[in-house]
Amino acid sequence: MAKVTIDDITIEVPDGTTILQAARMIGGHVVPPAMCYYTKLKTSGGYCRTCLVKVEQGSEKDPRPMPKPVASCRTTVMDGMVVRNTTSPEIQEARAGVVEFLLLNHPLDCPICDQAGECHLQDLSYEHGKEGTRFEFEKRTFDKIDIGEKIQLHMTRCILCYRCVKVADQLTDERVHGVMNRGEVSEISTYIEKAIENDFSGNMIDVCPVGALTDKTFRFKSRVWYTKPMYAHRDCDKCSGKTTLWYQGEDVLRVTGRKDVYGEVEDFICNTCRFDKKLTKDWVIEGPAEIDRHSVIIQNHTEKLIPKEQVQILPNLPGVDFTKKIES
Ligand code: SF4
Ligand code: FES
Repeated sequence: MAKVTIDDITIEVPDGTTILQAARMIGGHVVPPAMCYYTKLKTSGGYCRTCLVKVEQGSEKDPRPMPKPVASCRTTVMDGMVVRNTTSPEIQEARAGVVEFLLLNHPLDCPICDQAGECHLQDLSYEHGKEGTRFEFEKRTFDKIDIGEKIQLHMTRCILCYRCVKVADQLTDERVHGVMNRGEVSEISTYIEKAIENDFSGNMIDVCPVGALTDKTFRFKSRVWYTKPMYAHRDCDKCSGKTTLWYQGEDVLRVTGRKDVYGEVEDFICNTCRFDKKLTKDWVIEGPAEIDRHSVIIQNHTEKLIPKEQVQILPNLPGVDFTKKIES
């Protein structure tokens, strides 16, 4: 076991735990954001740098600090390690820089993007983004690629987190897509433009942190905050059949996996449940879904207001708003 202190809160965790996992065991405002790490996808993490933290003390035996911010999803704790996340203005500033980089090429098309309201980059920009851009060049553009009749790819929105590639690698039998090329011209593409038709390919939509992969059967039907999410299940011979149905009136507009507080799905679901079961009679309804992730998506649903006394105000950094850090 190793003792680690994150933002002045000490916890004992099994050896081999990463700083991010240890922070999630504590929960609340000490947890760094994660755009590419995904608990259920092996080897995920290490691509986006949003989870940066400061290691103020390496370990009990060797108390020297780590010289640079480290990716908390890829750094394992050591006994006696001291870590700073929200209590380090330096880290908040570094994170604002990462957000600025992620937004260099990402279009600000939230008003027409189906992911709006549940987009991790939208949340991150709201919390750490600067009001202006210093980028003077044209954003990247790509030739449009059709990756099949159920999933829409908007490459301009992709932040190259590799989660969809890991889903394809680890959940489907035959991966037909990946990241092609390197550097500025990297892009998600299918090999020889082959459609992604595997039974579990729809999970790429759920793991995509932005609006680069969206559900064609839901596109432009509604803003997500106008829908009512309900937990439901059905007997399915391919997956657990446990889903969230997103209703507008009597209509099921889309079906997704159930997501936890970090926006990660609890059980991956099959394409039959996701795309072909859009009638209430197909499902056993369990009740309203809990959307406990802080995001625009909780508007009109289950938002808990933050009591004023629990709002932590950290040192003022230009363009950085810390006032929404602590949830009740
Ligand atoms: S399409 Fe989405 S999930 Fe895939 S790499 Fe891009 S941002 Fe990540
Ligand atoms: S979540 Fe750690 S680098 Fe992306």
